Amino acid sequence: HPMVFPSSRVHFSKTSRRLPQALIIGVRKCGTRALLEMLYLHPRIQKAGGEVHFFDRDENYLKGLDWYRKKMPHSFRGQITIEKSPSYFVSPEVPERVRAMNASIKLLLIVREPVTRAISDYTQLRSHAATAILPLADSSPPTPPAAAAGSGYGPSTAARTKLQSARGYDNALGSGAGGKETSQRTQRARRTVIGTTTTTAATPTTTLSAAQLAGKSFEELAIFPNGTVNEAYRPLSISMYHIHLHRWLEVFPREQLLVVNGDRLIEDPVSQLRRIEAFLGIEHRVKSEHFYFNETKGFYCLRYDNGDRCLRETKGRKHPHVDPVVVSKLRKFFAEYNQRFYELVGEDLGWPE
Ligand code: A3P
Repeated sequence: HPMVFPSSRVHFSKTSRRLPQALIIGVRKCGTRALLEMLYLHPRIQKAGGEVHFFDRDENYLKGLDWYRKKMPHSFRGQITIEKSPSYFVSPEVPERVRAMNASIKLLLIVREPVTRAISDYTQLRSHAATAILPLADSSPPTPPAAAAGSGYGPSTAARTKLQSARGYDNALGSGAGGKETSQRTQRARRTVIGTTTTTAATPTTTLSAAQLAGKSFEELAIFPNGTVNEAYRPLSISMYHIHLHRWLEVFPREQLLVVNGDRLIEDPVSQLRRIEAFLGIEHRVKSEHFYFNETKGFYCLRYDNGDRCLRETKGRKHPHVDPVVVSKLRKFFAEYNQRFYELVGEDLGWPE
């Protein structure tokens, strides 16, 4: 029977790096990081540190499975290794490549109401655009609005965090809103100890349109001057979940994929985690005592044996105000797509029209 040491993740001789038995394939901005960190509370779960982007980037995929395995954390037999790269969901070549590695892998897909997701995506792209035109020197960092909003950090910390995020780092828990530098340092040390790896995503300029850099509003980007919806706008096309999911279901049976409700994960993490534990075939271990609601951050934060952690300030950004007329136009636009998504997954997620 495999021995599992719940709280110590020390490398004894019985551990090795194993290819993932489960993947969080997306969707970006739906809570992929929160989901992975929450699952990591479970003693049977090990997680890859950064986003590895093995299946969606040819330069990585060509390095082969040994390269991928080396990006994985040490685990005991009986533990489940999970990796998350949200771009897997929208990259056409990925499902077949995943199947070639492991045809019985378990897939986790976290979704949110598509218009909220699009606005969150816009907010992130805009903040990267803001960073891309900031001077990189530490001398006079402007205060980024999202980080300044109640984070309790001085501008230079905020700017540094933002720069990291603009470079595509997404492997970290931040200290709680109002947290201290020391706890950040502790986490950095912790990350080192558990041997995670960080992968650098595409540089911001490659993911930004000129329009984003020009500081256009969400309304301007989503709706053409003639009033029609700009379907090609990336934050909107990524929210057309059925198009992307369709490709996955051509390769994997429906039972191998679990749809996680990202809006519910925010409100009530334990109920979503219970479903995931059952799906992964592991006992119910992540419970309400692992969470506390942080009023300053406005989200649940995580409670470990050795302290409390919130996701960092790039998770749970304040969204800009969006014209309610535009929101309701987009909700109507998505109604038909949502219906197709419900049919594919066999569940009505009840998103507003
Ligand atoms: P917003 O920043 O728009 O609120 P991803 O990790 O896939 O990029 O998703 C980021 C989203 O995770 C955030 O989007 C936030 O709403 C959501 N989220 C869910 N649970 C969270 C938590 N406990 N703390 C912070 N963000 C959380």
